[in-house]
Amino acid sequence: MNDTFLKACRGQKTDYTPIWIMRQAGRYLPEYQKVRGNVTFLELCKTPELCVEVTLQPIDILKVDAAILFSDILIPLEAMGTPLEFHEGRGPVFPEPIKSQTDLDKLIIPDPEEHTGFVMETIKLLRKELKVPLIGFSGAPFTCATYLIEGGSSKVFWETKKMMYTAPDLFHNMMRKITDTTTLYLKAQAKAGAQALQIFDSWAGILAPRDFKTFALPYVKEIIRDLKDTGLPIIYFANNGATLLELSESSGADVLGLDWRINIGDAAQRVGDVALQGNLDPFSLLLPKNELKKRIAAILDDAKDVKGHIFNLGHGIHQFTPPEQAIAAVEYVHELSRK
Ligand code: CP3
Repeated sequence: MNDTFLKACRGQKTDYTPIWIMRQAGRYLPEYQKVRGNVTFLELCKTPELCVEVTLQPIDILKVDAAILFSDILIPLEAMGTPLEFHEGRGPVFPEPIKSQTDLDKLIIPDPEEHTGFVMETIKLLRKELKVPLIGFSGAPFTCATYLIEGGSSKVFWETKKMMYTAPDLFHNMMRKITDTTTLYLKAQAKAGAQALQIFDSWAGILAPRDFKTFALPYVKEIIRDLKDTGLPIIYFANNGATLLELSESSGADVLGLDWRINIGDAAQRVGDVALQGNLDPFSLLLPKNELKKRIAAILDDAKDVKGHIFNLGHGIHQFTPPEQAIAAVEYVHELSRK
């Protein structure tokens, strides 16, 4: 069992810097496309045997030090009772977005075993196969709320901010329901065998620090507090969150994920004893290999005083990335950090 990733999460010394890649299972891999060619994305997410197959692909191909469960942050939201569709080229769509208390009242707090048993089954199957630790995950309540309110992806988040500012009680009621759902969902993942848990706050960066503190952070804090008794390391990734770093640290997470917009050495100076994960710009994978290697060396050097560094990209790998560039990046991180 390669436990380098788990050691780094706990701030312990490791022989080399572990690496995994956000969205490491996905469309940039021809092997994924082959599986995906026969099923829709949601069918894939709900078929444990296929989820196992695509979760394992990047472990074998890239030689990363951790696996991440193949699923999606929107799966537990669908289980709350709101229809979810994925449209080719447009991404996720919730055709019945939440606009009122009446809409919200229709949503349930799902029993994770009963409504998302396929996720727990995938975790159990994966643990029999894996020789690296398995990361379970969810979205952070704020990020989940944006999808439910906007009815899908957004650029300006008009509906979300309109609800925050003009109907704050409704907004908080919704966060309450998503938070309760998320806590149960992550606890169930821990029970099924997940060895670390990452909370993705992909849209935290659209908030002013004051609003992050009021509308988003308390719910993340509560989830992390309620997960403490699982004993698992918790990674909190607030995308575009350089201005939220100290607040993010107060979430109580063991590891903070960093996007590429901040220097990891500067981030380390601003926080205490927390491990850091990141933070190569995903597009750096397009650099010629010698330049890519220099970038990786620079990040490893910037992170030399970090207590527990887990190498990753600053956000998900882009779908048009040549897989051999990702393979090379993993090799370079292992090679350079061993010296
Ligand atoms: O290796 C892994 O990380 C696989 C598991 C995973 C997926 N989505 C699979 C996926 C994880 C951890 C996610 C998280 C996720 N999903 C986030 C948070 C991370 C981030 O990127 O900020 C978000 C915001 C979502 C919601 C989501 N899912 C969107 C907006 C989209 C459409 C955009 C896109 O990339 O297509 C998805 C679809 C999705 N989720 C795909 C995959 C592999 C592509 C689906 C396909 O095969 O067509």
